[in-house]
Amino acid sequence: MTIKGKVALVTGAGQGIGRGIALRLAKDGADIAVVDINTDKMAEVAAEIEELGRKATTFKADVSARAEVYAAVEHTEKTLGGLDIMVNNAGIAQVDPIADVTPEDVELILKINIQGVLWGIQAAAAKFKSLGHKGKIINASSIAGHDGFEMLGVYSATKFAVRALTQASAKEYANDGITVNAYCPGIVGTDMWVEIDKRFSELTGAPIGETYEKYVGGIALGRAQTPDDVAALVSYLAGPDSDYITGQAIITDGGIVYR
Ligand SMILES: NC(=O)c1ccc[n+]([C@@H]2O[C@H](COP(=O)([O-])OP(=O)(O)OC[C@H]3O[C@@H](n4cnc5c(N)ncnc54)[C@H](O)[C@@H]3O)[C@@H](O)[C@H]2O)c1
Repeated sequence: MTIKGKVALVTGAGQGIGRGIALRLAKDGADIAVVDINTDKMAEVAAEIEELGRKATTFKADVSARAEVYAAVEHTEKTLGGLDIMVNNAGIAQVDPIADVTPEDVELILKINIQGVLWGIQAAAAKFKSLGHKGKIINASSIAGHDGFEMLGVYSATKFAVRALTQASAKEYANDGITVNAYCPGIVGTDMWVEIDKRFSELTGAPIGETYEKYVGGIALGRAQTPDDVAALVSYLAGPDSDYITGQAIITDGGIVYR
Protein backbone atom coordinates (compact mmCIF):
# COMPACT_ATOMS: atom_id res chain seq x y z
CA MET A 1 0.00 0.00 0.00
CA THR A 2 1.30 3.47 -0.84
CA ILE A 3 0.38 7.15 -0.88
CA LYS A 4 0.62 7.27 -4.68
CA GLY A 5 -1.64 9.98 -6.04
CA LYS A 6 -2.16 11.69 -2.66
CA VAL A 7 -1.43 15.38 -2.03
CA ALA A 8 0.80 16.44 0.86
CA LEU A 9 1.58 19.91 2.23
CA VAL A 10 4.86 20.25 4.16
CA THR A 11 5.67 23.43 6.10
CA GLY A 12 9.28 24.46 6.59
CA ALA A 13 10.06 22.37 3.51
CA GLY A 14 12.74 24.71 2.14
CA GLN A 15 15.58 22.90 3.90
CA GLY A 16 16.57 20.36 6.53
CA ILE A 17 14.02 17.88 7.85
CA GLY A 18 11.11 19.46 5.95
CA ARG A 19 12.97 19.13 2.66
CA GLY A 20 13.80 15.51 3.48
CA ILE A 21 10.13 14.81 4.22
CA ALA A 22 8.94 16.53 1.04
CA LEU A 23 11.35 14.51 -1.12
CA ARG A 24 10.52 11.22 0.63
CA LEU A 25 6.75 11.71 0.25
CA ALA A 26 7.34 12.56 -3.43
CA LYS A 27 9.35 9.34 -3.83
CA ASP A 28 6.42 7.54 -2.19
CA GLY A 29 4.20 8.89 -4.99
CA ALA A 30 2.58 12.03 -3.55
CA ASP A 31 2.37 15.48 -5.12
CA ILE A 32 3.78 18.09 -2.76
CA ALA A 33 3.03 21.66 -1.69
CA VAL A 34 6.30 23.14 -0.45
CA VAL A 35 5.54 25.86 2.11
CA ASP A 36 8.18 28.04 3.76
CA ILE A 37 9.19 31.67 4.34
CA ASN A 38 12.31 31.24 2.19
CA THR A 39 11.21 31.50 -1.46
CA ASP A 40 14.58 30.65 -3.06
CA LYS A 41 14.91 27.41 -1.11
CA MET A 42 11.29 26.46 -1.76
CA ALA A 43 11.86 26.76 -5.50
CA GLU A 44 14.92 24.46 -5.33
CA VAL A 45 12.99 21.78 -3.44
CA ALA A 46 10.05 22.04 -5.86
CA ALA A 47 12.45 21.47 -8.77
CA GLU A 48 13.88 18.39 -7.02
CA ILE A 49 10.35 17.02 -6.56
CA GLU A 50 9.54 17.56 -10.24
CA GLU A 51 12.74 15.72 -11.17
CA LEU A 52 11.29 12.75 -9.26
CA GLY A 53 8.29 12.85 -11.60
CA ARG A 54 5.79 14.31 -9.14
CA LYS A 55 3.90 17.60 -9.20
CA ALA A 56 5.07 20.36 -6.86
CA THR A 57 3.85 23.81 -5.96
CA THR A 58 5.35 26.44 -3.67
CA PHE A 59 3.60 28.87 -1.36
CA LYS A 60 5.21 31.48 0.88
CA ALA A 61 3.58 31.42 4.30
CA ASP A 62 4.66 32.24 7.82
CA VAL A 63 3.05 29.48 9.89
CA SER A 64 2.60 31.82 12.85
CA ALA A 65 0.02 33.77 10.78
CA ARG A 66 -3.25 31.83 10.80
CA ALA A 67 -4.57 33.40 7.58
CA GLU A 68 -1.36 32.49 5.73
CA VAL A 69 -1.65 28.84 6.76
CA TYR A 70 -5.27 28.71 5.59
CA ALA A 71 -4.19 30.38 2.33
CA ALA A 72 -1.47 27.74 1.85
CA VAL A 73 -4.06 24.99 2.23
CA GLU A 74 -6.39 26.69 -0.29
CA HIS A 75 -3.51 27.13 -2.73
CA THR A 76 -2.64 23.45 -2.40
CA GLU A 77 -6.17 22.32 -3.19
CA LYS A 78 -6.41 24.68 -6.17
CA THR A 79 -3.08 23.80 -7.74
CA LEU A 80 -2.70 20.11 -6.84
CA GLY A 81 -6.38 19.13 -6.76
CA GLY A 82 -6.82 18.25 -3.09
CA LEU A 83 -5.15 17.69 0.26
CA ASP A 84 -4.65 14.36 2.04
CA ILE A 85 -1.57 14.79 4.25
CA MET A 86 -0.52 17.83 6.30
CA VAL A 87 2.97 17.93 7.80
CA ASN A 88 3.34 20.77 10.32
CA ASN A 89 7.13 20.72 10.33
CA ALA A 90 8.22 24.39 10.52
CA GLY A 91 9.81 25.37 13.80
CA ILE A 92 12.62 27.39 15.34
CA ALA A 93 15.01 26.76 18.22
CA GLN A 94 16.23 29.15 20.90
CA VAL A 95 19.17 28.45 23.20
CA ASP A 96 19.10 30.37 26.48
CA PRO A 97 19.39 29.60 30.16
CA ILE A 98 15.99 29.99 31.83
CA ALA A 99 17.32 33.05 33.71
CA ASP A 100 17.88 34.99 30.47
CA VAL A 101 14.68 34.27 28.54
CA THR A 102 12.82 37.46 27.56
CA PRO A 103 9.10 38.01 26.86
CA GLU A 104 9.98 38.75 23.21
CA ASP A 105 11.81 35.40 22.84
CA VAL A 106 8.87 33.51 24.31
CA GLU A 107 6.32 35.31 22.17
CA LEU A 108 8.20 34.49 18.97
CA ILE A 109 8.83 30.81 19.63
CA LEU A 110 5.31 30.16 20.92
CA LYS A 111 3.85 31.80 17.81
CA ILE A 112 5.86 29.64 15.42
CA ASN A 113 6.22 26.32 17.24
CA ILE A 114 2.83 26.09 18.97
CA GLN A 115 0.45 28.38 17.09
CA GLY A 116 2.01 27.37 13.76
CA VAL A 117 1.14 23.73 14.46
CA LEU A 118 -2.31 24.65 15.80
CA TRP A 119 -3.24 26.65 12.68
CA GLY A 120 -1.94 23.82 10.52
CA ILE A 121 -4.10 21.27 12.34
CA GLN A 122 -7.19 23.51 12.10
CA ALA A 123 -6.75 24.42 8.45
CA ALA A 124 -6.01 20.86 7.31
CA ALA A 125 -8.84 19.26 9.29
CA ALA A 126 -11.33 21.85 7.97
CA LYS A 127 -10.17 21.12 4.42
CA PHE A 128 -10.35 17.33 4.81
CA LYS A 129 -13.89 17.71 6.18
CA SER A 130 -15.00 20.05 3.38
CA LEU A 131 -13.57 17.63 0.82
CA GLY A 132 -15.52 14.85 2.54
CA HIS A 133 -12.62 12.47 3.12
CA LYS A 134 -10.26 11.37 5.84
CA GLY A 135 -6.73 12.68 6.23
CA LYS A 136 -3.44 12.53 8.05
CA ILE A 137 -1.94 15.33 10.15
CA ILE A 138 1.68 14.92 11.25
CA ASN A 139 3.37 17.39 13.59
CA ALA A 140 7.01 18.11 14.47
CA SER A 141 7.72 17.50 18.13
CA SER A 142 11.16 16.38 19.37
CA ILE A 143 12.97 14.38 22.02
CA ALA A 144 12.78 17.80 23.69
CA GLY A 145 9.01 17.24 23.69
CA HIS A 146 9.55 14.26 26.02
CA ASP A 147 12.42 15.56 28.21
CA GLY A 148 13.19 19.19 29.04
CA PHE A 149 16.74 19.91 27.79
CA GLU A 150 19.02 22.39 29.53
CA MET A 151 19.43 25.74 27.71
CA LEU A 152 16.51 24.65 25.54
CA GLY A 153 13.81 25.14 28.19
CA VAL A 154 11.32 27.20 26.20
CA TYR A 155 11.97 25.20 23.02
CA SER A 156 11.28 22.03 25.03
CA ALA A 157 8.06 23.58 26.37
CA THR A 158 6.85 24.25 22.83
CA LYS A 159 7.56 20.66 21.80
CA PHE A 160 5.70 19.31 24.88
CA ALA A 161 2.82 21.55 23.74
CA VAL A 162 2.89 19.97 20.28
CA ARG A 163 2.34 16.58 21.95
CA ALA A 164 -0.66 18.02 23.84
CA LEU A 165 -2.17 19.45 20.67
CA THR A 166 -1.53 16.15 18.88
CA GLN A 167 -3.32 14.15 21.57
CA ALA A 168 -6.31 16.52 21.93
CA SER A 169 -6.88 16.94 18.20
CA ALA A 170 -6.51 13.18 17.61
CA LYS A 171 -9.43 12.68 20.00
CA GLU A 172 -11.51 15.52 18.53
CA TYR A 173 -11.05 14.50 14.88
CA ALA A 174 -11.15 10.70 15.23
CA ASN A 175 -14.81 10.53 14.22
CA ASP A 176 -13.95 12.37 11.00
CA GLY A 177 -11.42 9.71 10.07
CA ILE A 178 -8.55 12.13 10.61
CA THR A 179 -5.48 10.84 12.43
CA VAL A 180 -3.06 13.20 14.15
CA ASN A 181 0.43 12.06 15.16
CA ALA A 182 3.82 13.61 15.85
CA TYR A 183 7.41 12.67 15.08
CA CYS A 184 10.09 13.31 17.68
CA PRO A 185 13.59 13.46 16.15
CA GLY A 186 16.82 13.47 18.13
CA ILE A 187 19.98 15.19 16.90
CA VAL A 188 19.63 15.89 13.19
CA GLY A 189 22.54 17.55 11.38
CA THR A 190 20.61 20.49 9.89
CA ASP A 191 21.16 24.26 9.95
CA MET A 192 19.10 24.32 13.13
CA TRP A 193 21.84 22.38 14.93
CA VAL A 194 24.56 24.59 13.41
CA GLU A 195 22.80 27.53 15.10
CA ILE A 196 22.23 25.64 18.37
CA ASP A 197 25.89 24.65 18.50
CA LYS A 198 27.02 28.23 17.78
CA ARG A 199 24.83 29.62 20.56
CA PHE A 200 26.04 27.01 23.08
CA SER A 201 29.54 28.05 22.13
CA GLU A 202 28.75 31.73 22.89
CA LEU A 203 27.17 30.83 26.21
CA THR A 204 29.62 28.23 27.51
CA GLY A 205 32.86 28.95 25.67
CA ALA A 206 32.85 25.45 24.14
CA PRO A 207 34.64 25.30 20.78
CA ILE A 208 32.39 25.30 17.70
CA GLY A 209 31.22 21.75 17.01
CA GLU A 210 31.84 20.45 20.52
CA THR A 211 28.22 20.60 21.76
CA TYR A 212 26.93 18.85 18.64
CA GLU A 213 29.60 16.15 18.95
CA LYS A 214 28.80 15.72 22.66
CA TYR A 215 25.13 15.12 21.92
CA VAL A 216 25.91 12.82 18.96
CA GLY A 217 28.33 10.90 21.21
CA GLY A 218 25.40 10.01 23.45
CA ILE A 219 23.39 8.30 20.69
CA ALA A 220 23.18 4.52 21.17
CA LEU A 221 23.26 3.77 17.44
CA GLY A 222 26.49 5.77 17.17
CA ARG A 223 25.78 8.39 14.54
CA ALA A 224 23.92 11.65 14.01
CA GLN A 225 20.44 11.49 12.54
CA THR A 226 19.75 12.53 8.95
CA PRO A 227 16.60 14.13 7.53
CA ASP A 228 16.04 10.84 5.68
CA ASP A 229 15.86 8.98 9.01
CA VAL A 230 13.09 11.34 10.13
CA ALA A 231 11.35 11.21 6.75
CA ALA A 232 11.15 7.40 6.97
CA LEU A 233 8.96 7.69 10.08
CA VAL A 234 6.86 10.47 8.51
CA SER A 235 6.40 8.31 5.40
CA TYR A 236 4.98 5.57 7.63
CA LEU A 237 2.71 8.04 9.48
CA ALA A 238 1.51 9.44 6.13
CA GLY A 239 0.73 6.03 4.67
CA PRO A 240 -2.02 3.46 5.14
CA ASP A 241 0.08 1.14 7.33
CA SER A 242 -0.35 3.63 10.21
CA ASP A 243 -4.13 3.97 9.81
CA TYR A 244 -4.79 2.55 13.29
CA ILE A 245 -2.35 4.90 15.05
CA THR A 246 -3.49 8.28 16.34
CA GLY A 247 -2.51 10.75 19.06
CA GLN A 248 1.03 9.39 19.32
CA ALA A 249 4.33 11.29 19.46
CA ILE A 250 6.84 8.75 18.22
CA ILE A 251 10.53 9.09 19.00
CA THR A 252 13.07 8.53 16.22
CA ASP A 253 16.45 9.36 17.74
CA GLY A 254 18.82 6.39 17.42
CA GLY A 255 18.56 5.82 21.16
CA ILE A 256 18.71 8.93 23.36
CA VAL A 257 15.35 9.18 25.10
CA TYR A 258 13.49 5.96 25.95
CA ARG A 259 9.69 5.90 26.35
N1 LIG B 1 17.36 19.45 13.78
C1 LIG B 1 17.04 18.71 14.82
O1 LIG B 1 17.90 18.08 15.44
C2 LIG B 1 15.60 18.57 15.27
C3 LIG B 1 15.31 17.67 16.31
C4 LIG B 1 14.00 17.53 16.74
C5 LIG B 1 13.00 18.27 16.16
N2 LIG B 1 13.30 19.16 15.15
C6 LIG B 1 12.17 19.92 14.59
O2 LIG B 1 12.05 19.61 13.20
C7 LIG B 1 11.57 20.75 12.50
C8 LIG B 1 12.53 21.08 11.35
O3 LIG B 1 13.82 21.33 11.89
P1 LIG B 1 15.14 21.53 10.98
O4 LIG B 1 16.27 21.02 11.77
O5 LIG B 1 14.89 21.04 9.61
O6 LIG B 1 15.19 23.14 10.98
P2 LIG B 1 15.88 24.16 9.93
O7 LIG B 1 16.09 25.42 10.69
O8 LIG B 1 17.03 23.53 9.25
O9 LIG B 1 14.72 24.38 8.84
C9 LIG B 1 13.49 24.97 9.22
C10 LIG B 1 12.75 25.44 7.97
O10 LIG B 1 11.53 26.06 8.45
C11 LIG B 1 11.40 27.34 7.85
N3 LIG B 1 10.68 28.24 8.77
C12 LIG B 1 11.15 28.80 9.92
N4 LIG B 1 10.22 29.57 10.47
C13 LIG B 1 9.12 29.49 9.66
C14 LIG B 1 7.84 30.07 9.72
N5 LIG B 1 7.48 30.93 10.70
N6 LIG B 1 6.94 29.77 8.74
C15 LIG B 1 7.29 28.93 7.73
N7 LIG B 1 8.50 28.36 7.63
C16 LIG B 1 9.40 28.63 8.59
C17 LIG B 1 12.81 27.82 7.57
O11 LIG B 1 12.84 28.80 6.54
C18 LIG B 1 13.50 26.50 7.17
O12 LIG B 1 13.36 26.25 5.78
C19 LIG B 1 11.43 21.86 13.54
O13 LIG B 1 10.11 21.91 14.01
C20 LIG B 1 12.37 21.42 14.65
O14 LIG B 1 12.01 21.96 15.89
C21 LIG B 1 14.57 19.32 14.70
